[in-house]
Amino acid sequence: EGNRALDIAKLAAQTGHITLDDGYANTGSTASRITFVDGEKGVLRYRGYRVEELAERCDFTETSYLLIHGELPSAEQLEEFRTNVRQHTLLHEGMKQIFAGFPPDAHPMAILSSVVGALAIYCHDSLDPADEEQQELAIYRMLAKMPTIAAFSYKQSIGQPFIYPENRLTYCQNFLQMMFAVPSERYEMDPAFVDALNLVLILHADHGQNCSTSAVRMVGSSTVNLFSSISAGICALWGALHGGANEACINMLEMILNDGRNLGKYIDKARDSNDPFRLMGFGHRVYKNYDPRAKVIKEVCHRLLENHGQEDPLFELAQELEEVALNDSYFVDRKLYPNVDFYSGIIYRVMGIPKNMYTVLFALGRLPGWIAHWREMHLAPNMRIHRPRQVYMGHSERDFVPLIKR
Ligand code: ACO
Repeated sequence: EGNRALDIAKLAAQTGHITLDDGYANTGSTASRITFVDGEKGVLRYRGYRVEELAERCDFTETSYLLIHGELPSAEQLEEFRTNVRQHTLLHEGMKQIFAGFPPDAHPMAILSSVVGALAIYCHDSLDPADEEQQELAIYRMLAKMPTIAAFSYKQSIGQPFIYPENRLTYCQNFLQMMFAVPSERYEMDPAFVDALNLVLILHADHGQNCSTSAVRMVGSSTVNLFSSISAGICALWGALHGGANEACINMLEMILNDGRNLGKYIDKARDSNDPFRLMGFGHRVYKNYDPRAKVIKEVCHRLLENHGQEDPLFELAQELEEVALNDSYFVDRKLYPNVDFYSGIIYRVMGIPKNMYTVLFALGRLPGWIAHWREMHLAPNMRIHRPRQVYMGHSERDFVPLIKR
């Protein structure tokens, strides 16, 4: 794809120099065959396929297979993959005690990372990444149990009983059922919500060496198991500069709405270098053009709201904010456009998903990407532990001062 790089693997040995690159903006941490992003043109492809086309024509499980195994599955391969994932949706009953110990106001992202980490306690026969069979089992378990853990974390936070997975349902149907069904009532699932969820998960499924994926690779490079590596990725995703931006963006839109829709005030704050305020859901390290995922998500917002005969004042406001920002020299000069997190919260609002679950949904979507990168790293012939250098700027050697003299 015309990517060019300087190979500096022998730089320190040959010159005594290392490179310094804050935030790794210019540093390729690995060679990868999974996802191509052209930030200037706004292009995103998984294994060579345009994400827009996958979102229209695939389901999330099929996309997961593609990311992890590198090719679109045949009908038999897909059925076998679905069956293997379905077999592992239940959690060990003992894990319910872990949920019970969390306070009701615990953030679901904190619960998700903890319980996914705890899978390493319950699944100790699939911890060795060097053993192919264990690796495969860990991947099925991770894909199957993540929706269950995500939905249980929500049920725990609202004090409702856990709804067990039903394996006759699709991946997305199962998740919605575990989120919204209650034992005392029949749950009518809206097919439009199932489709929207499927599409949003596909759009989030991978994005190269982003912060959380790099965390998964970094942690996994010590040869720790998949569950611990994914738990680290979930923690990295939670931050507001990364996946946490979807929740932060809706909080920001609510704040602007409640402040009399004073867009000018917030655009000025975002432009002010002395003000920490940023437009959440805007800007990207790689995209210097409209994020292709945001384009599709915005269309889905229109479609969902129209189909349900609803209007959403936050969606109206978000579109106005986008228009003002895209015509403002500050944002134009810095090539700041809406990213994947700007409109996704609007879809979740229509579906009735609470704000603190937005980043959990991002994690659910990103899971196959994390797995694909973890697996790619372990299959690479040149895998090494990730261990960056530093430029030391502290004191040179000095004499110890006893406590009494300090
Ligand atoms: N609002 C206002 N100004 C911004 C924004 C924003 N959202 N994003 C970047 N800028 C400005 C910076 O202040 C900086 O200005 P300067 O050159 O005058 O100092 C310039 O644009 C470049 O920004 P950096 O912070 O250097 O860009 P970086 O690549 O390090 O950060 C990031 C990218 C974190 C996404 C940033 O754009 C941001 O904070 N956006 C808001 C949070 C967000 O939406 N995160 C989700 C990203 S998508 C994802 O992770 C799934």
